[in-house]
Amino acid sequence: MTSRYDEVYARAKTAPEAFWAEAAEAVSWTKRWDRVLDFDRAPFARWFVGAELNTCYNVLDRHVEAGRGAQIALIHDSPVTQSVQKLSYAELLDRTARFAGVLKGAGVGRGDRVIIYMPMIPEAVVAMLACARLGAIHSVVFGGFAAPELAARIDDASPKVIVWASCGIEVNRVIPYKPMIDEALKLATHKVARCVLIQRTAQRAEPVPGRDLDYESEMARAMPVACLPVLATDPLYVLYTSGTTGKPKGIVRDNGGHMVALNWSMKNIYAMKPGEVFWAASDIGWVVGHSYIVYAPLAYGCTSILYEGKPVGTPDAGAYWRLIAEHQVKVLFTAPTAFRAIRREDPEATHLSRHDLSRFEILFLAGERTDPDTLIWAQTKLNRPVFDHWWQTETGWPMGANCAGLGALPVKPGSPTKAVPGYRIGVMDEKDKPAPAETIGPIVVELPLPPGCLPTLWNNEDGCRRAYFERYPGYYLTGDAGYIDRDGYLYIMSRTDDVINVAGHRLSTGAMEEALARHRDVAECAVIGVSDSLKGQVPLGFVVLKAGVNRPDADILKELVQLVREQIGPVAAFRQALVVNRLPKTRSGKILRGTMRKIADCEAYAMPATIDDPATLDEIRSALRTVGYAGTTA
Ligand code: COA
Ligand code: AMP
Repeated sequence: MTSRYDEVYARAKTAPEAFWAEAAEAVSWTKRWDRVLDFDRAPFARWFVGAELNTCYNVLDRHVEAGRGAQIALIHDSPVTQSVQKLSYAELLDRTARFAGVLKGAGVGRGDRVIIYMPMIPEAVVAMLACARLGAIHSVVFGGFAAPELAARIDDASPKVIVWASCGIEVNRVIPYKPMIDEALKLATHKVARCVLIQRTAQRAEPVPGRDLDYESEMARAMPVACLPVLATDPLYVLYTSGTTGKPKGIVRDNGGHMVALNWSMKNIYAMKPGEVFWAASDIGWVVGHSYIVYAPLAYGCTSILYEGKPVGTPDAGAYWRLIAEHQVKVLFTAPTAFRAIRREDPEATHLSRHDLSRFEILFLAGERTDPDTLIWAQTKLNRPVFDHWWQTETGWPMGANCAGLGALPVKPGSPTKAVPGYRIGVMDEKDKPAPAETIGPIVVELPLPPGCLPTLWNNEDGCRRAYFERYPGYYLTGDAGYIDRDGYLYIMSRTDDVINVAGHRLSTGAMEEALARHRDVAECAVIGVSDSLKGQVPLGFVVLKAGVNRPDADILKELVQLVREQIGPVAAFRQALVVNRLPKTRSGKILRGTMRKIADCEAYAMPATIDDPATLDEIRSALRTVGYAGTTA
């Protein structure tokens, strides 16, 4: 098939309003828009102004009304509980409408926030969709975050209700959520009067009388609630993500633009058809889970898989192949780290031969750059196209991809292919001007951003302007650096800020430094992301101890690892720190984290002209060598 990519890209570029108005015909509206795009308050764009819709209606009701109620909407495949549960569209709608009734009874209405702190169980999806049904705004918090992170989100989002489950299950370890919920509610300044508790059989939680409503008994007596139409520009959810500082950023997603963009992406990027099975092996706590476990596949009438397991260890490196075969998956979307984990355990992919993958067509990877080695391994073993694609919590759907639905382009390993229609992507040079092809620099997107991308940050429009729109007027700053080759292929090489990507999880080294700085013996610290063959990157800490501290370093380092676990959570995967006498700094006192990272990763670096004392780098190099990292000067 010859690709229609060029033609479609050009159309979206020259007439964006007509392009997205046409795409919007795939969405059910209760009131059509007055304007497709309102860019009067640039840099902030609002799509489908004046229109009304309900996202939950688009995701569930309309499929049932169209006679497809018996089709499976959601498959919960949970090797950790050894169960598979299938919910039809009609069943998911029934549960969602009743849970909307529970939330309504707890006082939740349009515009109210609801925090969802849950593992990968169907009730989490039900809770998200029930919020959408009521016009309430959900904020899902990933289960791997610790109480202080949850508390920070409670304070920022000021939820009326928290929906939580008694435990998560990590391979064969039960993680009780109650200590985290109780502690977070104690730490938060914002007071939450009501919680809804889902009891899991693996471990029940003791409810707090007067605070925790029991999910099962509330559902048994709940009345179903109908969809409430909201403005296209009203928020659907707030999802917190890591930024440069320790404070997470609340990315807002609207209702209308989001539905339009996700619907478009299912057909044109992922080449899906209604009724087919789509599996995003991610977590609902991340944007991939929001967009491609919940909203996009369901809006498009596909079957979506909610997988409560890992690529390896539940029970083995054949888990992904089992799911693909058993549920007849057409497209799988996961992080490269998952494939590195599978390859490490089963380099010859011997598990593949036990499964029938005849329905499987394409593997999409994202969350971090797909290294060519992993890409080629996956391609060879699966004998299927493997496409890297690039996006962020902020955009909610891919910015760069091989649009399979438009006819795939040739793959260049190391590149997520080209800008997706609707995104005008460029690279800036040192003079803040658009850089020519093949030049590395900060990657930007020309404004206005297409539908689906963040309209703003929750309660923080100024912060949004500063973080994304101020540096290059007229452009959105992605925070990534890379280049575009002469054929228009994108290469996303690294972050330009303090964000690191650990096993596809986006984390802030700034937040980890804040945690380390709380230790009573730490005078100064720095955290960098160093290369890791499994997780892509892992954090590594450096601490300077206060004068007079004479406890063994090993004890202090153990406490530091524990501290990050308690403050941020196990997902930070912070396992190593080094004690040094001094940190390398510029004469104005800025820590030279970039140079430290290059030394750790054995990359060439130039001695920074502004360095205060070059000998500090020697000490860093020696310390790194003690734990297996080292480097050379250029
Ligand atoms: N709740 C509680 N704890 C969690 C958690 C959750 N939802 N998710 C992860 N953790 C914990 C893990 O148990 C682990 O704890 P430990 O330090 O006690 O062992 C820690 O957080 C780090 O987890 P992780 O980074 O997942 O490492 P791992 O060694 O357990 O597994 C991989 C490695 C590669 C198998 C795993 O990271 C993986 O499946 N990655 C795919 C990621 C992905 O899909 N990302 C979405 C982007 S598309
Ligand atoms: P998140 O907001 O968690 O989705 O993380 C977004 C960040 O992950 C991006 O800004 C990139 O740094 C990185 N990322 C995601 N996908 C890719 C990719 N395909 N190639 C390179 N980096 C990626």
